[in-house]
Amino acid sequence: MENQQKVKNLIDLRVQAKLGGGEKRIASQHSKGKFTARERIHMLLDEGSFEEFDMFVTHRCNNFGLEKEKYLGDGVVTGHGTVDGRTVFVYAQDFTVFGGSLSETMALKICKVMDMAMKMGCPVIGINDSGGARIQEGVTSLAGYAEIFERNILASGVIPQISAIFGPCAGGAVYSPALTDFILMTEQNSYMFVTGPKVVKSVTGEDITTDDLGGADVHARKSGVSHFRVEDEETGIKTIRELISYLPQNNLEEAPIETCSDPINRLEDALNTIVPDNPNTPYDMKSVIAGIVDCGKFLEVHANYARNIIVGFARFNGVSTGIIANQPNFLAGVLDCDASRKAARFVRFCDAFNIPILTLVDVPGFLPGSGQEYAGIIVHGAKLMFAYGEATVPKVTITLRKSYGGAHDVMSCKQLRGDFNYAWPTAEIAVMGAAGAIEVLEGRSIAAISDPAEKAKFVDDKVNEYKDKFANPYQAASYGYIDDVIEPRNTRFRIIRAFQALQTKKVVNPLKKHSNIPL
Ligand code: HXC
Repeated sequence: MENQQKVKNLIDLRVQAKLGGGEKRIASQHSKGKFTARERIHMLLDEGSFEEFDMFVTHRCNNFGLEKEKYLGDGVVTGHGTVDGRTVFVYAQDFTVFGGSLSETMALKICKVMDMAMKMGCPVIGINDSGGARIQEGVTSLAGYAEIFERNILASGVIPQISAIFGPCAGGAVYSPALTDFILMTEQNSYMFVTGPKVVKSVTGEDITTDDLGGADVHARKSGVSHFRVEDEETGIKTIRELISYLPQNNLEEAPIETCSDPINRLEDALNTIVPDNPNTPYDMKSVIAGIVDCGKFLEVHANYARNIIVGFARFNGVSTGIIANQPNFLAGVLDCDASRKAARFVRFCDAFNIPILTLVDVPGFLPGSGQEYAGIIVHGAKLMFAYGEATVPKVTITLRKSYGGAHDVMSCKQLRGDFNYAWPTAEIAVMGAAGAIEVLEGRSIAAISDPAEKAKFVDDKVNEYKDKFANPYQAASYGYIDDVIEPRNTRFRIIRAFQALQTKKVVNPLKKHSNIPL
């Protein structure tokens, strides 16, 4: 073959590879409202930045006549490119080739980009759209999954790992995304489950649809498996790009600092009156967050799951910061099993990747009851405490209103290595709420009063006495547990100054193989 022909050959092979499973299957993919693997990668990366690897890899399976059916690339597009100029490694399963099912060679391709991402210290983004293990290959496919899982585990806490689910993700295949830091699912077309509806029906008799079993809504609201539920793939890709902007490349680097156009000493007058006089009246913690962060911009994570706690990323003076905040607008901001797990995972992510943590506290306590106890609120609450107590990143805590009992300790109190702990004048830091406390302390005296009016007055007086003494931040401040009581409208400035002072913080945990967080 002449050299010119060789070049032409290469070009032809590239064209062929880019067609994946062929035009008919691409059309079928489009007809479902889905993009192809390459289209997804091109949307994700900066224009013209994608460098593809392993375009000429084909499978090595000779079962079921597969030796006669080979596609260049073998069902996954892999390589690297940039997001806002920063290198990321990517893989996108190609549903047009054997339904994106995972073969031995597909696993090798995915492992290669994961290894490179680790070597170069760059995030890895996986776009999942697959029918699971390639059935014709049998155990080599299972082994391939395990190779990927092991890499997910070793990369955890070293490089950010993000999984987009833009199609099926079922069976053992779910565990790779589950081992990564963030999962994003599209409302249409994506689902995740360990066993599908047919198996569920045959094993348990339960009739359930694919969506009800493992659709985006289920995992965003009920299971908490997914961190972002997005309308469509374009929104999903934009969300991934935004998420990446808050993250460092790896655990040895800091997140990029953006130029901040929002004055750091901006006073937010509305905050002076945002906490209602009645302690049982809710308010929206998201308004507080919007009022204090740079330009009101907040990327909420797990927005639909355990809404009694809010977690997400924002910037203070351009510095990426993780925010954890009780939400009085939902279940009064109480800590329950789900909220504790959600926040604990987020705290650990921030700590692993050097992202400072801001905690906004308005928590009436842990949710009481047999339901929570049976579900293991003790260990779930302990997870959050463990995560905060272990974290070495700068931690600033602002108590806005309630901070009661065990929940006070858990929410980044001073003794669990909160660095700067501030409170608003509306803060109530105590062992428990006034009514509950008086019932315990004065139960016998209350029972001894027979006249109802007299009883009510006695309780009222005692409750007020308790409130005067404890429903404020000053007792905690008198012990130095609160570093300062601050004017609410000046919160943004105080947070920025606190984090500035904490920039040089150095804390090292005792040397050990690893801790034993109560999982
Ligand atoms: C080989 C597969 C495949 C698979 C799909 N295809 N899944 N080929 N192995 N696992 C092929 C189909 O034969 C078809 O080929 C093409 O992909 C598209 O599939 P369709 O069924 O036409 O598409 P659709 O109707 O959209 O349905 C998608 C699907 C369905 C729901 C994913 O294909 C399906 O149920 N697949 C099998 C899922 C499964 O049981 N996987 C194994 C799970 S166990 P043509 O040539 O017609 O285009 C597992 C264990 C992992 O994954 C363990 C890890 C530890």
